[in-house]
Amino acid sequence: MDAKLLKSRFEDIFKRSNGELFFAPGRINLIGEHTDYIGGHVLPCAITIGTYAVCAKRGDHQIRLYSENFPDSGIVCLDLSATAYKKEDGWANYPKGMIHYLLKAGGQIDSGMDILFHGTIPNGAGLSSSASIEMLTGSILKKLFSLDVSDTELALIGKRVENEFIGVNSGIMDQFAVQKGKKNMAILLNCDKLEHEMIPAAFNGYKIVIMNTNKRRELAASKYNERRSECDEALSELRQYRNIASLAELTSEEFNKLESLLSCETLRKRARHAVNENERTLSAAEALKSNDLKTFGELMNASHRSLRDDYEVTGDELDALAEAAWKEGALGARMTGAGFGGCAIAIVESEETAGFIRAVSSHYRSRTGLEASFYIADISDGAAEWREK
Ligand code: GLA
Repeated sequence: MDAKLLKSRFEDIFKRSNGELFFAPGRINLIGEHTDYIGGHVLPCAITIGTYAVCAKRGDHQIRLYSENFPDSGIVCLDLSATAYKKEDGWANYPKGMIHYLLKAGGQIDSGMDILFHGTIPNGAGLSSSASIEMLTGSILKKLFSLDVSDTELALIGKRVENEFIGVNSGIMDQFAVQKGKKNMAILLNCDKLEHEMIPAAFNGYKIVIMNTNKRRELAASKYNERRSECDEALSELRQYRNIASLAELTSEEFNKLESLLSCETLRKRARHAVNENERTLSAAEALKSNDLKTFGELMNASHRSLRDDYEVTGDELDALAEAAWKEGALGARMTGAGFGGCAIAIVESEETAGFIRAVSSHYRSRTGLEASFYIADISDGAAEWREK
């Protein structure tokens, strides 16, 4: 990214200079899918594609927001005293939500500001462009107004924006990964206690290839919320027999003995995924620590099958990519993020990546009639001020 160019865009749009630069990454999740909101474990990494911003305080109470990704929305203007959700503000509800809840939490944000956003995350790819904008805004506000707020608090405020402002009942994984990411590290996060451990993502000799279905994620929010309530329902049924606070407290062995007590096959499948995926994530973290990439890859494949067969969030496009990747010799491949379209990831031998991409691309085209896009994931630091290196 060219810092000078970004700054000159800020000057063009807002007719002022001396903006400060910030960056927040996107994220991929290596394994631990749909386990954050059941209090389980996840293993995401922040990536170098993300969102840049140029920003400066103002002398009045006006907030002006502009995104180069949504030029048709123009400059969205609001007053510091009127930060409620408005459907017509579209993308700007994400930064606005951060301002709204930071103010509610007592943050001394006492002047307006101008912010120009420039995202390099493909839209709707499931690589957390929304958490990226949220944590970017959080980091900007923290710095400009010297707010006394920790990384974890910022992540929780971002989650609140999703849950209460936007209306998606998502968990903490995306915001946490985007805020706390570390270069070349995967984050093993316990989403119940919010305790985490950094694990070197040493895929020596391999690359993480991101494979984008380029399929619009239709009804993703409503299906996501539906899965979440199915897990809640399964938990409340199981609580009649076992004193547990979350599905993540069960081992797969314990769950096998309990599953027949659930009232229907759908709940059995959802809960089975949740319990097994949580266990797989812990095993995968161990495998990564001991550099056992073969086991790691097998756990990724099992995760995809479980998301396909039990959780039913993959869809033909993600299956086509993962299955093509398996066929083309990936060490492991699976969908990443919420599913219902978006991206899959594959661990591929560095020297084989070009051929791998060609072959998967052709399988995908003939199975779905769509063109996939491919990016190599570089694991990045979390949201922060940014200086061009
Ligand atoms: C989305 C949500 C996360 C998480 C994943 C699925 O990315 O925002 O909280 O639930 O889906 O693992």
